[in-house]
Order: sequence, then structure tokens, then C-alpha cells
Amino acid sequence: MSIRMKTPPRMPPDAADAARALRARPAGEGQPSADAVVRPDGEITFAIDALNLWYGAKQALTGVGLEIARRKVTALIGPSGCGKSTLIRCLNRMNDLIPGVTITGRVDYRGVDIYGADVDPVEVRRRIGMVFQKPNPFPKSIYENVAFGARVNGFRGNLDDLVERSLRRAALWDEVRGDLRKSGLALSGGQQQRLCIARALANNPDVILMDEPCSALDPIATLKIEDLMRELADDYTIVVVTHNMQQAARVSDYTAFMLTDEETTGRLIEYAPTETMFTQPADQRTEDYISGRFG
Ligand SMILES: Nc1ncnc2c1ncn2[C@@H]1O[C@H](COP(=O)(O)OP(=O)(O)OP(=O)(O)O)[C@@H](O)[C@H]1O
Ligand SMILES: [Mg+2]
Repeated sequence: MSIRMKTPPRMPPDAADAARALRARPAGEGQPSADAVVRPDGEITFAIDALNLWYGAKQALTGVGLEIARRKVTALIGPSGCGKSTLIRCLNRMNDLIPGVTITGRVDYRGVDIYGADVDPVEVRRRIGMVFQKPNPFPKSIYENVAFGARVNGFRGNLDDLVERSLRRAALWDEVRGDLRKSGLALSGGQQQRLCIARALANNPDVILMDEPCSALDPIATLKIEDLMRELADDYTIVVVTHNMQQAARVSDYTAFMLTDEETTGRLIEYAPTETMFTQPADQRTEDYISGRFG
């Protein structure tokens, strides 16, 4: 494993946070019943265990535990505020960048605790790339958007090849090949999102996290991104947050359903192969949510 040892350990939680963490984790509390959380078949990219997260004093994840399968698409669904974005950001330590966040529990990426004292968060974020809700190309040319990470990292190979390969992989090459010097901001929303995916791919990641990548896109652009997600799953582990049940059903292999209720914030209710989740949910609350009864 080549995640290197560079940065100092995370600050330990202060006494109050630690006390809250201990109180929040009596055995079983916040955990779904065992039959509502499957273990995926095959290789595992992430093993998440007893994960709790607080923003200051406010808890946003409670006892989340699940395993994410390698080279599959995993969807995170649930009503607004249930902790989907918080959970997906835990997978590449993006929450570290938010002041006042305390995390307990484990996130193992291919057997390495990514919150371990000896892990470099920058390398974590390179391997585990992220695409956001609103396409966010840099105000630079299409070419420079894709080449950016490689330049920063002192890439010694052929940049033109890297840019072409990444744009092809993101299903954008044919639309932009004659316009590589044009600003990334001049593209349509769907093209901008594929440019952001190309930019992530150029860093040679292993995992791509997508937080509602289609919510700002029209239906045609959405379908293109969905097709792309399926194709990318041949080579990459994909985790996608979506509010769109049809999208989860169309693109994902596994689905995790999360919920916040009066007692517990940000807990996993059910995790299953997508087909099972949508046809025979194990938990009544899952059934109510996917059939549109709330959220
Ligand atoms: N940076 C932050 N600081 C403080 N609280 C936050 C922060 N980000 C999220 N929260 C809170 O944590 C809880 C979970 O939020 P999160 O954004 O993870 O939900 P979500 O499921 O992604 O919702 P949505 O579907 O609306 O995007 C919410 O109560 C939210 O207000
Ligand atoms: Mg969100």
C-alpha cells in the first residue's frame, strides 16, 4: 500500500466530544438489524465500521457500518439531511477540511485505516477522487482543466496523451477535440460535469465519489453521466449520492438507505444489492421511502 506517512495525526477529540462519542456508542445502538445490511460479494474497497461524526456538538452520523464493493456502483439514498454527503466525504477525508469536525470509528480503504496517524490525506484524495453536485471546472481551458493535477504533481509523461485519454474515458473527447483551448466554463452543464470527471480521472484514481452529480443537469445530460458511471465501474469503484430513485435503480449495484429520525441522526437503515432493495426491502422505512411516502 503506497499511502505514505507524512502528516501528523488528527487532533484527538476534546474531553466533551470524547464523552459524547462514548455515550453514543453502546453496543447495538444506531445499528440496523443484521439482516438489513448485506456483505457485498467479491473484493471490498471500503470497510466502514461504527462511524460517528459530529459537526461541533451536533451529531451527523451514528454508528454507520457497511462495506463497499470494488469496481461496482454503490448508491447512497435517503431524505435531505440524513448524512449522505457527510458519509461520502468521510471516504476521502474531505470532512477534515471542515473546522470542528470530530470522527470516531473506522474507514478502511483496501485494508488501510485512512484516518490512521501515518496516512497522507492528500494522497487519499488523489486515489479517491470526487465530483460535486455543481460542475466546478477551473476558469481555464479544457486542456488545462484536465492537465492541472498532472502539472501540479510534476507528471513526466506525455500530457497531450493524458488529456486525450482522460477526455475519452469521460466520454467528452469527440465533443471537444477541436476546442481544447476553449474555456471549460464555455461548455454546457453536462459537458462541464464530464470535464470534471475527466479532471478526476487524469489523477489516476482508484475510486470516484459523486455527490448528486446530475442534480443540476437536464435528462439527456443525466443519462450520459449515468451511462458513463456504468462504464467507469469496469475500472473504478464508484460511490454516488442521489435523490433520484430511478437513477439509483438504473446505475447502482448496491444501495445504502440512510435516515435521521427523532432519536438518531445519520444512521444506516438498510444496505443491499440494488435489485433486492427496490423489490424486497427488509425494513418498512426503506419501503416507505422508495415508494415515495416521505422524503
Ligand atoms: N459543514 C457543516 N457544518 C455543520 N453542519 C453540517 C455541515 N454539513 C452538514 N451538516 C449537517 O449535518 C447533517 C447531514 O447533512 P448532509 O449534508 O450530510 O445531508 P445530506 O443527506 O447530504 O442532505 P441533502 O440530501 O440535502 O444533500 C444535516 O443536519 C446538516 O445540517
Ligand atoms: Mg448532500
